[in-house]
Amino acid sequence: MNKIRKAVFPVAGLGSRFLPATKAQPKEMLPIVDKPLIQYAVEEAVAAGVTEMIFITGRNKRAIEDHFDKAYELEAELEAANKQALLELVRGVIPKNVNCIYIRQSAPLGLGHAVLCARPVVGNEPFAVLLADDFMDTERGTKPVLAQMAEVYDYEKCSVLAVQDVPRENTRQYGIVKADAYRKHLELVSNIVEKPLPDEAPSTLAVVGRYVLSGAIFDHLENLGTGTGGEIQLTDGIASLMRAERVLAYRYAGQRYDCGSKLGYLEATTAMGLKHPETAAGFQAFLAKLAKENGHGST
Ligand code: G1P
Repeated sequence: MNKIRKAVFPVAGLGSRFLPATKAQPKEMLPIVDKPLIQYAVEEAVAAGVTEMIFITGRNKRAIEDHFDKAYELEAELEAANKQALLELVRGVIPKNVNCIYIRQSAPLGLGHAVLCARPVVGNEPFAVLLADDFMDTERGTKPVLAQMAEVYDYEKCSVLAVQDVPRENTRQYGIVKADAYRKHLELVSNIVEKPLPDEAPSTLAVVGRYVLSGAIFDHLENLGTGTGGEIQLTDGIASLMRAERVLAYRYAGQRYDCGSKLGYLEATTAMGLKHPETAAGFQAFLAKLAKENGHGST
């Protein structure tokens, strides 16, 4: 079994950094312009050839299930009003050959635990993990990030982590890898630590929310104790996996926005607002006006 067919979306988190917006709504349903974060992540998985979407959900996350399900009343109303374009938009949220599977994570025991919850569905094959609040944008003509990683997997047949350099003072927000030169854009991971302090970090190469993992990760996760923050960390599972088999760090082509933070979310919204065909021109004019009013305009 070689192709990546399955993707895991850990979506049980509380989203406390976005309260009160996330009091009654999952953080993964926050929109960037007109699509929720989770839909962008699912589209990225579809573009990488994934057909089985496995959501690790929790309480208050039903909106995600509804979003990827048929919306009878809405569709009937749009049909009756002959709003064909909108109808297609609603029906096309997920391609017909794609299956959505929902597993409840009943306690917040960490990202490693969330991934472990997918074991009965993933089995022993390689799979992807996507953290929807890491929003990945790529230039026109460049493959989406997970598709880039699936290609690396096809060639290397081992686990692949998406990485980027971060300022040293930010290492405590990430899994940080120590890696040795391997091939272009690829490094061989020799150490990985979860959220090290800046002066203890083995490097400034941070893992962002895209992983391709070998099925062997599950045994490693199962045998872990709790790590940083009293949780079962995916990073610790990968550290253990790395001692048994090859794990590569991949410097992806693209721009990541940390939509788990207010600033990152605003940056993503701004970047995508400037690209969206319906808003690009008007939004650009608005930003120029704003800059001028604040004395930063060039004219
Ligand atoms: C998680 C992981 C961390 C990774 C990060 C990427 O942390 O535990 O290793 O670098 O995602 O966004 P979180 O952001 O959930 O605290």
